[in-house]
Amino acid sequence: MPQRSNHFADLACESLSRRGFLTATAALPALSLMPSEAEAAPAGFKSVAENRLDTVVVPEGYVWQPLISWGDPLFEGMAPLDLTKRGAPFAFTRAEQENRFGTHNDMLALFPANWAYPWPEGPVTRAIMCVNHEAVSPFMAAPGANGQPIDTSEVALDALYACMGVSVFDVAYDPASGAWSVVKGPAVGIGRNRRLTPYSEVVFDGSAANHPWITKAGAIVNDVETARSGPATRAGAIKAGTFQNCAGGFTPWGTYLTAEENFNNQFFTSDKASPALIEAQADAAFGVDQAIFRYDNVWRMGGPAQFDLSRNPHGPSLYGWIVEIDPYDPDWRPHKHTALGRKCNECATTVLSKANKAVVYTGDDSANQFVYKFVSRDKFDPTNRIANRTLLTHGTLYAARFEADGTGRWIALTAAAANRVPRGPGETPFADDGDVMVRCREAALRLGATKMDRPEDVESPTDGSFRGTGTVFVMCTGNLSDSGRAGNAANPRRKTIAGDGLERNYQGHIVRIEEARQDPAALTFTWDIFAVAGDPAGEIAPVTNQEGKVVNASSWLNGKPTTTGDRFAMPDNITFDHRKFCWITTDGTPETFPCNDGVYVLPMVGKGPRPVKRFLTVPIGAECCGPLLAWDQKTFFCGVQHVGAENVKGQNYRGEAAGPYSTFPNGGWPRDSVIYVRRQDGGTVGT
Ligand code: FEO
Ligand code: CA
Repeated sequence: MPQRSNHFADLACESLSRRGFLTATAALPALSLMPSEAEAAPAGFKSVAENRLDTVVVPEGYVWQPLISWGDPLFEGMAPLDLTKRGAPFAFTRAEQENRFGTHNDMLALFPANWAYPWPEGPVTRAIMCVNHEAVSPFMAAPGANGQPIDTSEVALDALYACMGVSVFDVAYDPASGAWSVVKGPAVGIGRNRRLTPYSEVVFDGSAANHPWITKAGAIVNDVETARSGPATRAGAIKAGTFQNCAGGFTPWGTYLTAEENFNNQFFTSDKASPALIEAQADAAFGVDQAIFRYDNVWRMGGPAQFDLSRNPHGPSLYGWIVEIDPYDPDWRPHKHTALGRKCNECATTVLSKANKAVVYTGDDSANQFVYKFVSRDKFDPTNRIANRTLLTHGTLYAARFEADGTGRWIALTAAAANRVPRGPGETPFADDGDVMVRCREAALRLGATKMDRPEDVESPTDGSFRGTGTVFVMCTGNLSDSGRAGNAANPRRKTIAGDGLERNYQGHIVRIEEARQDPAALTFTWDIFAVAGDPAGEIAPVTNQEGKVVNASSWLNGKPTTTGDRFAMPDNITFDHRKFCWITTDGTPETFPCNDGVYVLPMVGKGPRPVKRFLTVPIGAECCGPLLAWDQKTFFCGVQHVGAENVKGQNYRGEAAGPYSTFPNGGWPRDSVIYVRRQDGGTVGT
């Protein structure tokens, strides 16, 4: 496994100390200005201890508060959620949910109230927040038992689907007190607050917009939706909305990108003998079968027709895209950019290349899937915000290939290239580049991209200018698949425990890419393993995990620790502060260590091992997601998602008879929430 030290970030700082700080400030981007002697210092707060508590825990001297929780109204005049009566007093209908904060909040983005380029780097008293809603747990959102809702009427199932999508709302910040608050809209349809759901109108663009699967499925959706709820769909739009929105990003021109991830989870079939299922199985990229589409999931045996494969066999082709939303312009219909490829997208990180093109990194969060980037054909125009909304329509999609010698290249995904590769039995040629975008995974596999251990967030540190430095972090959450046991150079395996053979990657790791010439649009790169998640106590750190299996949970690799300090597992999302620290959130720590998920802070630059500090833990059952720092670095936001999921008081949906449960955030039924953290003395967080 190559452990490269000739890293750009390291080189930049080493050269800074040689050449002197003042010389360098004129030549290098803001994020490379830190003198090298400060690189390896740990963050400046006292670590939170491991715990399994039903609350948020923050370091001494910090406080946290919820900002918004599932069911909170986005508009004036709406009743608050009554925690003693799930689903009431607001009637748990689609119409009600369409005006309230959704469930399973994942990615957070903050936009200045008035867009200007470059973006602010100081305090802002009014802003717009966008939050996406990854999923819905029927049992958590509506009265039910054992994972199934009691009410499986179409009205109830409709409301459950409407829990997903995106929330857009204004927020206010009081610099004096450090308090943030949601600013409710005066009424539905007035102002910028809004919800997008799986029923909203969207527009497809890019080479696959007129792919036959999309047009066929789109026509069915529009017929179904118009018959059910009207009015007729506006020209060029499909009422497919968006769901399973996990991570995402924001663009220099002030739009929100939401990534459609495990969309397959929302489809069902009402008729397992339906001939239409044969047609659905042409979607080989997702292996439409009983296991993947959860045919046996009882609550999904019924529901809106557009999600029934028996009636809409190509419905899944409407999802798995990157969707652009303009928070400033409610009239602009969200655009599904097919040029960025269809996959289980997690994240869409935009930076500007040296030639001023938009570069968008995405990860496909499934075991043995790939890392991608899109490079726009056209250039960003800082003087014309609206014109930039077409930047993601035309460009080239690449998948990453990591070589064992620490180099790598970006492989362009085109029909011509993919069709030149000899096909295996049953593999069909790509009709055109649009077909490649729909069957993106197949094209990347054929063209030799490197299989990864669940690549989730793929993020690149930048500042208000969105100028990429060429450094990119790939969060690999882990790989429990049998086919991925051996790993590969970029997805190494810990030292095995005797008798266990090749080990799976239970705890995950982080790969760092340095684009050639520090240009995000480069076609080649170097890479290294930035950190291996786990316990730095030794090269063998045996832990009995949640499956009852003894695994090596060490953060060591090739005989050396990659981290020091606090142990963590399953890194999911990442963001960066102005002082060159990574802020990492986890999803799945309790599967290895007896600790709730949380936030971990470690230095971005310098040679390993990297000192890791636990900044925050979320309540029991929740994953931590959506790390976000306010522009003045005095507030840290994150998501508390599927809180209480391990077991809910009295009734659980994992089958445990008893166990811990959550009443987060305020003593009643558990509700997913966005929280924020600040220092009691009002200082910069993390220092
Ligand atoms: Fe929804 Fe990949 O986390
Ligand atoms: Ca995630």
